Amino acid sequence: MYIKHVVLKNWRNFRNAEGELSQVSYVLGANAAGKSNFLDIFRFLRDIAKPEGGGLQKAVNDRGGVSKIRCLHARHDPEIRIEVVFVEKLEDENPSWRYIIGFKPEGRGKHRNIISCEEVWKQDKKIVARPNIQDKKDSLLLTETYLEQTRANNEFRNIAEFFQNITYLHLVPQLLKYGEKIGGNRIEDDPFGQGFLERIAKTQERTRISRLSKIEVALSQAVPQFKELRFVKDEMGHPHLEAKYEHHRPNAGWQREDSFSDGTLRLLGILWSLQDSNGLLLLEEPELSLNQAVIQQIPLLIERVLRSNRKNKRQILITTHSKDLLSNNGIDADSVLVLKSEKEGTSINEVSNNDRVALDAGLSIADVILPQTKPKNIEQLGFWK
Ligand SMILES: Nc1ncnc2c1ncn2[C@@H]1O[C@H](COP(=O)(O)OP(=O)(O)OP(=O)(O)O)[C@@H](O)[C@H]1O
Ligand SMILES: [Mg+2]
Repeated sequence: MYIKHVVLKNWRNFRNAEGELSQVSYVLGANAAGKSNFLDIFRFLRDIAKPEGGGLQKAVNDRGGVSKIRCLHARHDPEIRIEVVFVEKLEDENPSWRYIIGFKPEGRGKHRNIISCEEVWKQDKKIVARPNIQDKKDSLLLTETYLEQTRANNEFRNIAEFFQNITYLHLVPQLLKYGEKIGGNRIEDDPFGQGFLERIAKTQERTRISRLSKIEVALSQAVPQFKELRFVKDEMGHPHLEAKYEHHRPNAGWQREDSFSDGTLRLLGILWSLQDSNGLLLLEEPELSLNQAVIQQIPLLIERVLRSNRKNKRQILITTHSKDLLSNNGIDADSVLVLKSEKEGTSINEVSNNDRVALDAGLSIADVILPQTKPKNIEQLGFWK
């Protein structure tokens, strides 16, 4: 199952917007255009659906409440609404499923978020339509989605599972290296740092060994002197990754992840996530800390992983600013979404027909589309003092 289409109302900087997704989608836009906010739609749906500690109220409150989520451009209509359309195969015209969630604050001094609309469509049949009779009798029911309730979602469990399987990767090397020292809250479902090592630790041993051995090959190609990679647990039971480098003394021993370079850690994160499970993968700026030559290979790497595993139905959404990444001529025009900040909120744009002509003539997304994300008076920044 894939997400083919998303329709948004009042979600952060998207007042009214919609976009088409492909198997791999590249989300481009200037700083603050809304790329991370776009990815957050899917993290939000995951947070509602997740079996432990999920639910609409928590997902909204974890984001600072409705006032933070609701589009500042919203006027009379206070409802926030997300619609997601699924297809079984990407080439399918007709949706197999459709999930719609709309909510707004209850008002009158209460801080609950009330569902204004929850709909599930199986092909063209509406199998959930809320508010329903029970909701009208007991309005408290409208504080919980059917999506988050195992009992209520049995007819569309596959949608709940799809959302639960969504992975977000935005590895912050400092958090991973100094996670234990920094302490504090860890966001388990979003591997920024230590959560990433735990994800590796939770993976079945055989799978872990096989994935890490593939990563070892890739790292030895991308990171000079890199030789071996292994997973260990320390005396406290905490998971670690260790590496050996060729230029070290023969018995210099293994180095822990806190001595890995930032780029090594980020590449490791990307390579692990690409092999991990089948769900929608959200990759935030994979280019960070990586060498230009490595970045250029990322689109190819993704293609190879997707093609190498027939069972791997992974869908990937990538935010990027990288010219190197987008200079790869293999990127399909249909897989590019360009976010543009406008007066009434951000719009989601596909590649225009004119631009397609330029791409067909051999130019790359970096040549044709990336310059469109440049802020208007950016040259002035150089005269800043
Ligand atoms: N509720 C809201 N209504 C309108 N705009 C909002 C809302 N919440 C956040 N924003 C705006 O969204 C912008 C940030 O968007 P986001 O973080 O998605 O940008 P981005 O494209 O990921 O940028 P970068 O490339 O810098 O990471 C900010 O300018 C912020 O003001
Ligand atoms: Mg961002």
